[in-house]
Amino acid sequence: MRIVRDVAAVRAAVAGAGRVGLVPTMGAFHEGHLSLIRAARQACDLVVVWLFVNPTQFNEAADLAGYPRDEERDARLAAECGADILFAPPVEEVYPDGFATTVTVSGIADVLEGAHRPGHFDGVATVVAKMFAMVAPEVAYFGAKDAQQVAVVRRMETDLNLPVRIEVLPIVREPDGLAMSSRNVRLDPDQRRRATVLHRGLAAGRAAVAAGERDAGAAAAVVARELARASITAEYIAVVDPDTFAPLERIERPALIALAARVGPVRLIDNMEVAP
Ligand code: PAJ
Repeated sequence: MRIVRDVAAVRAAVAGAGRVGLVPTMGAFHEGHLSLIRAARQACDLVVVWLFVNPTQFNEAADLAGYPRDEERDARLAAECGADILFAPPVEEVYPDGFATTVTVSGIADVLEGAHRPGHFDGVATVVAKMFAMVAPEVAYFGAKDAQQVAVVRRMETDLNLPVRIEVLPIVREPDGLAMSSRNVRLDPDQRRRATVLHRGLAAGRAAVAAGERDAGAAAAVVARELARASITAEYIAVVDPDTFAPLERIERPALIALAARVGPVRLIDNMEVAP
């Protein structure tokens, strides 16, 4: 595996390489990231892992400053999973002096995460559009953990006729249900224990829907009650259409329950598909 820092070098590496798969990440790899790299390895001729802690998608300085970084470990893990290129550009390579263009996806990017993290999806959409232009992948791999990010990227891909196929892989969880996240390492042991309630809450909501609950507010209330048992109040618990993220009042077809909650200093998100 080669580590590449600049756009010219990555372009030279992908030229004529056959089917190029791109795995966008901000590093601090866990099994969620690695599942994407392995899927790309299975399906593509050349696997490029993008590793860049994108400053423009952070809306809290402390979150950016505290974001875990360990490129050496990430490089080792990416290589073990069969990546060909780790593309880890410095900030100046991505945002050179005079950078002035932003990709804004309206509507879908304004609710839930977008509403609670102003500017977040502008940062995501812009950097994802840039990496698509830099690497020109045939396929790009994303995780269902960030379900709204997937919906925003798909919207952008459709609207801008981007010649890339978006593949989505399931959420990888710890044995106790907690969705893997780079931010989990910032939970202390007590917070780490309490954080498992996010998954239990979603599972309780899903069970309620499976048992006949059709009212979205009532299903969300089931999730909230479970979270309250661990003294956790969600920033939001929303029942939405999985493609458009439009809020649903009734659950008459497959839907997504998405939530965000702070556990101690760490803001976590999770989601689960529910079906009547
Ligand atoms: P990051 O948070 O590093 O996530 C990189 C990819 O890994 C995303 O597609 C995310 O959904 C996926 N992922 C994270 N946790 C996962 C889990 N538990 N199971 C499955 N997949 C998981 O998402 C970003 O980086 C950035 O916003 C990025 C797209 C790279 C743009 O900067």
